[in-house]
Amino acid sequence: MTLGVVVLAAGQGTRMRSQLPKVLHAVAGLTLLEHVARLADHVAAVERVLVLSADTHEAVAAQYGERYIYAIQHERLGTGHAVMQARAALRGKVDEVLVLYGADPLMRPASVEQLVAARRTANAVAAITTFSADPPTGYGRIVRDSAGNVQAIVEERMATPEQRAITEVNQGVAVYAAEWLWAALDELQPNQPSGEYYLTDLVALALQQHGPGSVAAIHLDDPTEALGVNDRLQLAEAGAILNQRKLQQLMADGVTIIDPSSTYIDVDVTVGMDSIIWPGTILRGQTHIGARCALGPQTMIVDSRLGDDCRATYSVIEEARMERGANIGPFGHLRKGAHLLEDVHMGNFGEVKNATLGPGTKMGHFSYVGDAAVGANVNIGAGTITCNFAADGRKHRTEIGDNAFIGSDTLLRAPVRVGAGGVTGAGSVVTKDVPPGGVAVGMPARVIRHSQPAPADSSDESPRSDR
Ligand code: UD1
Repeated sequence: MTLGVVVLAAGQGTRMRSQLPKVLHAVAGLTLLEHVARLADHVAAVERVLVLSADTHEAVAAQYGERYIYAIQHERLGTGHAVMQARAALRGKVDEVLVLYGADPLMRPASVEQLVAARRTANAVAAITTFSADPPTGYGRIVRDSAGNVQAIVEERMATPEQRAITEVNQGVAVYAAEWLWAALDELQPNQPSGEYYLTDLVALALQQHGPGSVAAIHLDDPTEALGVNDRLQLAEAGAILNQRKLQQLMADGVTIIDPSSTYIDVDVTVGMDSIIWPGTILRGQTHIGARCALGPQTMIVDSRLGDDCRATYSVIEEARMERGANIGPFGHLRKGAHLLEDVHMGNFGEVKNATLGPGTKMGHFSYVGDAAVGANVNIGAGTITCNFAADGRKHRTEIGDNAFIGSDTLLRAPVRVGAGGVTGAGSVVTKDVPPGGVAVGMPARVIRHSQPAPADSSDESPRSDR
């Protein structure tokens, strides 16, 4: 059975008070619309139509491109009218149609699956989703017959006082047999005084045509699945619920979260077993953390990948990678393209950008390394800076070979290379390459020795005396 999806998003969104279309606001690392798109993915939708108002079409299409067929609802004439706008794009292409709301990010994939299955199993023309709301204000009330079959959805404006007291309400997500839907939409009449075509009127219509049981229903036991976003308060509520679900999932999977109330983890983040997350930690975007890591307190990691056994305390890590056993902090900053290999230690107030630090390298204090390739087991002394941005307005690279020793307060004016085992003295300004095993001191540093003395030559000064 092929399934098409219609996502309704032509509402005005004025309560967001924003220049951004409502569905492009993000919670838990994804736009509202992306959360909804994933529900469609989950039930293997083959076609997707997004119903938008004319004024939001351009901004949304710029972001979502060909992932959707766009239908414009020029006049906001109700949910039934909105689905009519999608008919031409789907008719003849799909057997069933799932209707989702573009700003309702909280329905669980399993519930959507259950809804689709409920219609198929009952061979019903439609299946709707309900939940219990007390008070039920604002929602369509679910009217059932004495046998418990759904009879109608009655919108609050049209409800009798007895119907208004019903606490089982319409959540909004529904699935229909496609051919029945396309024909039934023509039967909808505008409701007065608003002139709106209510999609919910299809339920009573189905019963008139096909009798009791022709509309199936699922009930959401968790009412948080029904929350939609109309304003910034609900945006925050939706974010909090998604965050809570994510933390619960991670804890169930074996991650220790010391203080869930101060920990924020986006939906796509993964964390390996036996990792510990300390308070004030924020893991965002496409971040993937290995097993047995310790993160935080007060650490933000964005779009980054950390291997097993890493540590990060009071640090910010963005678009960077750390391999197994690497650690950073307190107060380190990895920026785009930073790559710390196995067992690197990067300590206090360091910054690394677009640079690799080789296995076992240590960069303990107050240093900036950018646009650089640093080898294995290098010691980077306190206050070392790669001066990568040159007077020609370009960024140049610094290369430091394995086992080099960069003395405290060394300035490396790129482009420059320190060979393997090379040494720079404290305070040196290195403007010329230091050969492998060489020792450079001074400002600007001049090469004072060209290679390591032979080990047997005890009369010579130790090449490492500058440490
Ligand atoms: C609708 C249901 C109601 C249900 C409630 C749950 C109808 C008539 N009523 O109420 O039973 O309890 O949702 O939240 O369906 N939209 C359009 N074009 C329109 C109108 C709405 O695209 O002309 C979109 C909105 O952007 C939103 C969705 O449809 O994504 C629902 O609209 P909203 O105004 O929130 O719902 P109600 O009509 O109040």
